[in-house]
Amino acid sequence: MPVSQLGYLGLGVSDVDAWEEFATNVLGMEAIEHAEDGTVYLRMDEHHHRVALAPSGADDMLYVGWQTPNREQYEEVKVKLLAAGVEYSQATPEELANRHVSDMVKFEVSGLNMEVYVGPHVLFERPFSPGRPITGFKTGELGLGHVGLAPERAEDFERVVQILTECLGFKPSDAGADGVERFFHCNPREHTAVVSNRPSAKHIGHFMIELNSIDDVGRAYDIADEQGVWITQRLGRHTNDHMISFYMETPSGFGVEYGWGGRTVDDANWQVTKHDRFSMWGHRRPEKPETEEEREAVRKFLASPNAPPTPASR
Ligand SMILES: [Fe+2]
Repeated sequence: MPVSQLGYLGLGVSDVDAWEEFATNVLGMEAIEHAEDGTVYLRMDEHHHRVALAPSGADDMLYVGWQTPNREQYEEVKVKLLAAGVEYSQATPEELANRHVSDMVKFEVSGLNMEVYVGPHVLFERPFSPGRPITGFKTGELGLGHVGLAPERAEDFERVVQILTECLGFKPSDAGADGVERFFHCNPREHTAVVSNRPSAKHIGHFMIELNSIDDVGRAYDIADEQGVWITQRLGRHTNDHMISFYMETPSGFGVEYGWGGRTVDDANWQVTKHDRFSMWGHRRPEKPETEEEREAVRKFLASPNAPPTPASR
């Protein structure tokens, strides 16, 4: 495997405090370090971090980090990038320190800043301590989760796919029937990268993190609901990776999918498929209350006997 997992995400956010609160108290990540340059590192497992929040007005993905398992594979990816005409640059010592990796190269394709690295900093001596009680994130060889990449220009769609497959070693998992969204894997996680050619204001549509227990997901749903986090898609199960999940709006406007129970794939027998619908059931999109009257109506409903019961404790 040239690239073996989605290692980290760098997010440029305008409200770092709101993000840290959301990441720890809703998602259950650990804020492990507040660096001098303003970066807030969020942890999900033994890795130093999986998400880095950088103070920036972008409210977008700044970079995506693809992990290679060893230097041999890392060097092979570099050779393949050059062969495909991708001009990468070597990370500076400051960037290596910021990313907490041994070595890294970076390149840009259609506004997507991709980083390929080897040697993440791991801290087995400091057990992961979640921001709220959860059983934990399903990472390990499956990596951080998955990420929805939105190229800046629709005409670059095939180029992004080419770089993922020919240079980074991703394999096709499946596609929507219209081919607008294509899904790729680089380890047993059914998909680690989704490439979309739908027009988007941001370079990231959403990222997905998987929990070890369905109860972690259910509790997050309650917490998000109570704290007024915008649930953009209610609970549902995806047709391709069989993930039971729901989607929330992050403080940066793009989405986060919070899931459990995703199936894994084995390249020895995986058959590429296409599908008309993204979900077997659920994942409905509630209307967002835009006006004060709509918000008032929601408040009235929640206070009425018809409202769903508020969990007494968690
Ligand atoms: Fe997803």
